[in-house]
Amino acid sequence: MLRIGVLVSGGGTNLQAIIDGIRNGVVTNAGIEVVISNNPGAYALQRAMDNNIPAVCVSPKSFETRDEFNEALIAKIDEYHPDLIVLAGCMVVLPAELINKYANRIINIHPALIPSFCGKGFYGLHVHEAALERGVKLTGATVHFVDEGTDTGPIILQKAVPVLKGDTPEILQKRVMTEAEWKIMPQAINLIANGKVKVENGIAWIDE
Ligand code: GAR
Repeated sequence: MLRIGVLVSGGGTNLQAIIDGIRNGVVTNAGIEVVISNNPGAYALQRAMDNNIPAVCVSPKSFETRDEFNEALIAKIDEYHPDLIVLAGCMVVLPAELINKYANRIINIHPALIPSFCGKGFYGLHVHEAALERGVKLTGATVHFVDEGTDTGPIILQKAVPVLKGDTPEILQKRVMTEAEWKIMPQAINLIANGKVKVENGIAWIDE
């Protein structure tokens, strides 16, 4: 069974999609061992507790230096021996040490079709504001492995969603979440849990 550690910062709707996916069989061979948030007020922590999953906060505010925070975060993750770390709305820039230690074992969900609207500064609602400003007719979501760049790792799954006249960033964000994120996040975890994802020369391939 794939042991998953989920890193969150906010509402945790993607975490909920994973919990539901495990419960309803969309995700097999996997279990969430811990949910870790940098933000003590994250509703995602409540979702974890409601589902009897250990919920832990490691806040940068509790440490004098970034290095001390990074060290504590890595130590906390290691405690649960995860096979896979899932960034589900995690707004923390991960230390290189963690990324190298868990190479090709960290995945992230990004609310756009990478390489559009990604990289530094593109997170949460900003992504949808930028998509509306550019006037794209399709946007969507991407699940990818995490490397040392920002949103640059191998792409595992993507799903497109239409942009409609009258969309606000909030309306578009909701459509991307319901029609893309909450679907491809559990699907990607299921593929990994069942040994269907391989990375070769920086490209992720799926064995169907
Ligand atoms: C999601 O839309 C996720 O794609 C995005 O933050 C939101 C978290 O929502 N992540 C990023 O922007 C990462 N660059 P959630 O807490 O309800 O899952």
